[in-house]
Amino acid sequence: MEPVTVIGLGLMGKALAEAFREAGHPTTAWNRTAGKAVYQVASVSEAVSASQLVIACLTTYEATMSALAPADLSGRTLITLNTGDPAGQCH
Ligand SMILES: NC(=O)c1ccc[n+]([C@@H]2O[C@H](COP(=O)([O-])OP(=O)(O)OC[C@H]3O[C@@H](n4cnc5c(N)ncnc54)[C@H](OP(=O)(O)O)[C@@H]3O)[C@@H](O)[C@H]2O)c1
Repeated sequence: MEPVTVIGLGLMGKALAEAFREAGHPTTAWNRTAGKAVYQVASVSEAVSASQLVIACLTTYEATMSALAPADLSGRTLITLNTGDPAGQCH
């Protein structure tokens, strides 16, 4: 099974991460606030490096880019599920 990283363990992110785990994907997660899940790692860089597929489920595009800034996304597939509009996300 493909490893998956989930960034953000709010209502949506935690549900996504649990669904991936229940489906058998090795799942790594990171959340700004610690303690949302036992499989949460300490840094966003560690979380991103764990999987080729990274799914971010934060509030806004700006929050997503800010949270991911320390991580090296090269070679990763990033899917963002934040709220926004096309104009605000074409950077
Ligand atoms: N819940 C729903 O039914 C639903 C339905 C459709 C769409 N959505 C959309 O899905 C997205 C996530 O929704 P949600 O319900 O999971 O939201 P939520 O429960 O409020 O969780 C928000 C998440 O974003 C993180 N976050 C916010 N600002 C951040 C920042 N500056 N840096 C790092 N992390 C930050 C929070 O981290 P902390 O824990 O550290 O605060 C938390 O993990 C939103 O865009 C929402 O509009 C949600």
